[in-house]
This record gives sequence, C-alpha cells and structure tokens, in this order.
Amino acid sequence: MNTRRQDQDLDSVARAILAGNDRGGFTIPTAGLYPFQWNWDSALTALGIATYDLDRAWREIETLFLGQWDDGMVPHIVFHLEDPGYFPGPEHWGVDHRPRTSGYSQPPVVASVVRRLLERGANAAAEARAGALVARIDRWHEWFFRYRRDPATGAVTIAHPWESGRDNLPDWDAPMAAVDSSVGDPVRRNDLEHVEAAQRPSQDDYARYMALVGFGRDRNWEPSAIGAESPFRVSDPGMTAILLRAERDLLELADRLALTDRIPAIRSRVGSLERGLEGLWSEEAGAYCSRDLRTGKVAGEVNSATFLAFYAGLGEGPRADRLRHHFDRIADRVRFTVPSYDPAEARFEPRRYWRGPTWIVINRLIAMGLEESGDGQRSERIRRDSAALIGKAGFREYYDPLTGDGCGGDSFSWTAAMWLDWAGRGSDGAPDD
Ligand code: DGY
Repeated sequence: MNTRRQDQDLDSVARAILAGNDRGGFTIPTAGLYPFQWNWDSALTALGIATYDLDRAWREIETLFLGQWDDGMVPHIVFHLEDPGYFPGPEHWGVDHRPRTSGYSQPPVVASVVRRLLERGANAAAEARAGALVARIDRWHEWFFRYRRDPATGAVTIAHPWESGRDNLPDWDAPMAAVDSSVGDPVRRNDLEHVEAAQRPSQDDYARYMALVGFGRDRNWEPSAIGAESPFRVSDPGMTAILLRAERDLLELADRLALTDRIPAIRSRVGSLERGLEGLWSEEAGAYCSRDLRTGKVAGEVNSATFLAFYAGLGEGPRADRLRHHFDRIADRVRFTVPSYDPAEARFEPRRYWRGPTWIVINRLIAMGLEESGDGQRSERIRRDSAALIGKAGFREYYDPLTGDGCGGDSFSWTAAMWLDWAGRGSDGAPDD
C-alpha cells in the first residue's frame, strides 16, 4: 500500500475515534480511562474535528465553558455524565457547580484554538461565537493573573501537578515531597484497570495528588487561599509559555473582532508574561526552568515544555540558540522526538507518562513554534516523527521515544485530532506523498 493510501486510511481511523469518543457536544479523551470532558484535551481535539465539522468544533469549546466558575476559572474536568469508573470523581472534589467539575485548572490553550477555528471559516455566525468566547476566555486568563502568579517573576504558577497537564514530571518531585501524603482521601487506582502500572504515576504520587484535592476542598475552593497557601506552588515555564501564546492569540481575536475595550488589559498581560517567562531563565541550565515558590529552588532540568518558549514567540537571540542546542542533544538520543523529559537524566523513564514518553500534542505545539521562528528543519523532524509513531503504533495516549511502542490509553482523541490537523499533512497541508 502506498503512503498516501495509508494516510487516507489513518484519516478515517482518526475520524472514527473522534466519533466514537463523542458524547454529544463534547469528546472524552478515551473510554474507560478518562470518561468525561477534559479541558485542554477537548480544546486541542476541536482542532481535529474542525477539519471536517467546524460547527461541532465550536460546540466542543462552548460545552467546555458550561463548566466555567463564577470567578472565571475553567476547571480541568467537567463531569457532564455519571461514571463511577473514574477516580477521583465529583464526590471527592466537593465543588458546588452544575455541571459538576474538578477544582483545579489546566493549560489554557483555548484562545489559540478559537483563533484557528475563526481562521478556518470566518462569517457573521462564527464571529458571534468567537466574540462570546473571547469574553469568557478573558475572564479565565484574568483568573490566572490574579491567583496563579509568581510574585517574584510574574510567571504562571500551578497549585496541583494536574494543573500543569504534565502530572508526574520529575520537576514536581521535590515540591511534592513536601506535601503530606497521609491526609488525602484513600486512593482507588481505577486507572490501573486500563493501563499497566509502569506507565502511570505511582501510588505515592496519587496519595499526594489527593492531599492537594483535600486542601482545596477544605478551603471551599477559595482561589486566593489556594494560590497563596497551597503546600504545592511552583512556577511552570510550560504554563507560562502556553498562557503567553494564548494571550497573544486573544489579542489578535479582540483586534479582529473590534473588541477594543479589552485590548489594553490583554496587551499588558502579554508584556507581563513575557517578563515572567524570561524571569524563569536559568543561565546555568541554558533553559527556562520551574521554580518551587516555597523554597525558591530551581529545577534546573530540561523537559519537552522547555521548547514551548518558541510557541510563546521567544524564538530569537542567544537564549533561543541554547534551547536549540538542547533540542539537538535530546533529538540525538531518541528515535522519536520530543521526549517529555531529558533522556540524559537519571529519572528518565521512557514509558512512564510525563517522565519520558513522547506526546503528539506537545509535539504539535513545539513544531508550530519552531516553524514560526523560521526553523522548518527541526519542526519537520518533529512532524515526521509524530506521523511515524502513529503509523507504527496507532492513536495512543503517548509513546516510548526510544522504541516507538504505544503506551497509556488507546483510541485517543487528541492524538487522532493532531493527526488530522497536522501530523498527517505535509507542509502544503496535503497528506504526505
Ligand atoms: C488523570 O486522571 O490521570 C489525569 O491526568 C488527571 O486529570
């Protein structure tokens, strides 16, 4: 079978996965393991849906915002349906909102997705939908600004590893060690019914995740208490880069839709996030690094989110050169870029969730940033590696960067979406020859 034919078959499989995971207005990441609407999964999934049903893609985002809190926060999970198979379900979060939701947020990619949806088909109806979403996104971004900011640098902070979207990244090990693992609800590892334990966070990680869930619940999810007092508070270059990019895209949307009253505040947040990300620069590491707010300690290591600086628009100058140097060093050590954690480090585990595996969504964001910075070569390496992973192992949650074996959940929505939107396309937007 020739490659174009194979790619067309993968297109149909990707669409079938998205249809199979559609629960009516929202798409679950994968059945069993993640049976609800997840924030950034859903937003990035909309990019794939948009390749064949733009109206449904808009709806994906609109449904996510049914979970938005009065204070502007958009939670990481919206429990639209009952499903006792997931832990921790709504009863552990104790959030007073309908539909039920979790209590922490997730990387804010929505503004960037909305900008793309509008670019795919602009008409009066699409502009009205975008305008309504801009107002809601603006409130969410302000929430980060108010409650999740490092006072020293202006970078975005997280109050739970789940907030970063990169749950068990080694960067969080030291700050999580300070969280009392004995105080949370008892852990039920439903995830291990779907994925082998060696590819998931540890039992100890889960005990501490639940301690932080209890911390928020005990404070009635009052955002200033959580932002200022959580036993886990870490500045994250990944979140900072994603929010910075999202603010730039929101600015573009506000400008295009003539929402001029919003522009000064967004512009000022862009400037402050630029300073925030630069404030996380470690000259010693040659990278933007996370910082534990409680101890002031800098992680000093490189992970896939390091390269999101390009996506955030900081792709020039000597700092960018040092990032490219890290990229090449890491790319030489793996067959399939971009591993979620530096393979030169002792804690690298090629199959364990965010401690080594390659994730196609992060690849998409890094490649986009590199391409925009004029680096077509590295960007294309990432795209080809991503297409090869999907061709070899199907639409998995993540992949072993050394062998290309598929790991985690199967029939995964955002991987399917990234195939349709990007990995399965040549630079001309057509399937590969
Ligand atoms: C999970 O359940 O593993 C998610 O990553 C947390 O939202």
